[in-house]
Amino acid sequence: MNHPAFASNHVAVVTGAASGIGLAAAKRFAGLGMNVVLADLPGEQLDKAARETAAVSPHGPGSVVAVPTDVASTDALKALEKAAVDRFGRVHVLMNNAGIQPGSSIFGAQDAWEKVFAVNLWGVINGSRIFAPAMIAHGQTGLIINTGSKQGITTPPGDPAYNVTKTGVKAFTEALQHELRNTPGCAISAHLLIPGFVYTGLTANGRTEKPESAWTPQETVDFMMLSLEGGDFYILCPDNDVERATDEKRILWAAGDIIENRPPLSRWHPDYADAFKLFWQSNARRSAERGSKCPFARSCGGRCVHTEALA
Ligand SMILES: NC(=O)c1ccc[n+]([C@@H]2O[C@H](COP(=O)([O-])OP(=O)(O)OC[C@H]3O[C@@H](n4cnc5c(N)ncnc54)[C@H](O)[C@@H]3O)[C@@H](O)[C@H]2O)c1
Repeated sequence: MNHPAFASNHVAVVTGAASGIGLAAAKRFAGLGMNVVLADLPGEQLDKAARETAAVSPHGPGSVVAVPTDVASTDALKALEKAAVDRFGRVHVLMNNAGIQPGSSIFGAQDAWEKVFAVNLWGVINGSRIFAPAMIAHGQTGLIINTGSKQGITTPPGDPAYNVTKTGVKAFTEALQHELRNTPGCAISAHLLIPGFVYTGLTANGRTEKPESAWTPQETVDFMMLSLEGGDFYILCPDNDVERATDEKRILWAAGDIIENRPPLSRWHPDYADAFKLFWQSNARRSAERGSKCPFARSCGGRCVHTEALA
């Protein structure tokens, strides 16, 4: 059973809906009979996405609308909220998902930093702040799903601007959920979607076929729906290469940099290679020993070593 926010005739707004994870989510929501607003940059890709989404809706084209929106613009997000409410009355599911990854370096171009902040971080913060008040006020159950990244948690070297935005999405969404759960009468909850490696326009890098290690956007949405049904805040998706146990170890090690007073990003520091290897091995043993007591079976969605251990 899906989370009750995904009821037929409820309303979903998805940003970055013209492709990838956003399009897969829009189609999933439409297939459940929801009214869906697809928001993305204007163009044929958005129009095509809306047609494809309408094609899977049991209620037909009238239940799906494309609203050209640049999430970097606060005014555009306000117009999007107004368009959704004017058309469908209220919003139950908001998915702040639009994102870009043009690449960055610490001392690289200023405008590259500003652009990625405007879309990935301000788009999520402003989207949440603009939509949430009316979502809370209507009193019905609802969800705000913000798309973060593992790069916002373990912050690997290579693309600092992207990492900083996704770290910000995590911190903002945690604070948002704290606020929502402490708001009397609020039936809206916030959730952080943390995709694994998903084959989309963002990650294709010239590839025309999905690499074996990647999940499809549809698999990612399957996992998201399962996790939301279970009430998870952190929707930590595995992929075909990285199972949950691996993510847990990476996240633990990253947190350990502070606790153990190691240098930042010590996972990639040659002086800590042996310590990291040792940590990895001892942790792998503990995961295996934990076996049948796996607390993650539901979130694993039957795709990770925990569930294998349960079998
Ligand atoms: N693909 C992955 O492996 C992966 C991993 C972690 C996180 N993510 C995150 O998932 C989200 C979706 O990405 P995806 O992988 O589906 O990529 P994608 O490129 O297929 O989809 C992103 C969509 O956002 C839209 N977009 C870009 N700038 C916009 C703007 N200013 N206003 C409105 N829309 C805009 C794009 O046009 C595109 O349709 C992003 O936030 C991304 O950072 C993806």
